[in-house]
Amino acid sequence: MDVMRVKNADEGGKKAFEILKEGIANGANTFGLATGSTPETMYSYMVASDVDFSDKVSVNLDEYVGLDGNDEQSYRYFMDQHLFNHKPFKKTYVPNGKATDLDAECQRYDGVIADNPIDIQVLGIGQNGHIGFNEPGTSFDATTHVVELTDSTVNANKRYFDKIEDVPTRALTMGIQSIMKSKKIILMAFGKAKADAVKSMLEGEVTENLPASVLQNHGDVVVILDEDAASKL
Ligand code: F6R
Repeated sequence: MDVMRVKNADEGGKKAFEILKEGIANGANTFGLATGSTPETMYSYMVASDVDFSDKVSVNLDEYVGLDGNDEQSYRYFMDQHLFNHKPFKKTYVPNGKATDLDAECQRYDGVIADNPIDIQVLGIGQNGHIGFNEPGTSFDATTHVVELTDSTVNANKRYFDKIEDVPTRALTMGIQSIMKSKKIILMAFGKAKADAVKSMLEGEVTENLPASVLQNHGDVVVILDEDAASKL
């Protein structure tokens, strides 16, 4: 894995955006996208740029079960607010958290991923080493599935909700197998809370107990770290 150290999240987002731009110049058409605080600076650089995404496709990693796209806490809403309302794409895919048949929704989403192979996947990392919502213990062979979120993840995400009881406890997520099929992966991590997970991802054994460690088996990963996230390396 190619590790880039930056001063802060702003510089990290700028670097990630530059890598996206270079990818586009080399023919990248489909982008796997993440939500959460980590990619926000990258999205700001995308929005502020003159790069045209109207012929590009995005495939998001995950969505909370039970929230529809108009819910301000949904990941669809997040993506609309931070990116899509400002930079139109040809097509944007996010799992449907309101699907009545969740298994059918997982299969449908796997079809979306198969029809739109991801050129560049953007990832954050959870404090417990999750990528997407693939929590510790998830098989590396997993495709899109429903997950019960761990207490660690629910706690980390409660900052977006009025009270912890409002944080959904289930989500739909793209699986690790699909993430690993992306041609190129950019993982960003900012802040001290990520330092342990980053160290295990880069220096620990490859294990399903630390989902991000699977990235050691991918041939083209750029890891962008601020000083705090890199502080335990
Ligand atoms: C979100 C996602 C998650 C986040 C991770 C870090 O779509 O896939 O894996 O990337 O939970 O979240 P933040 O960036 O909020 O620290």
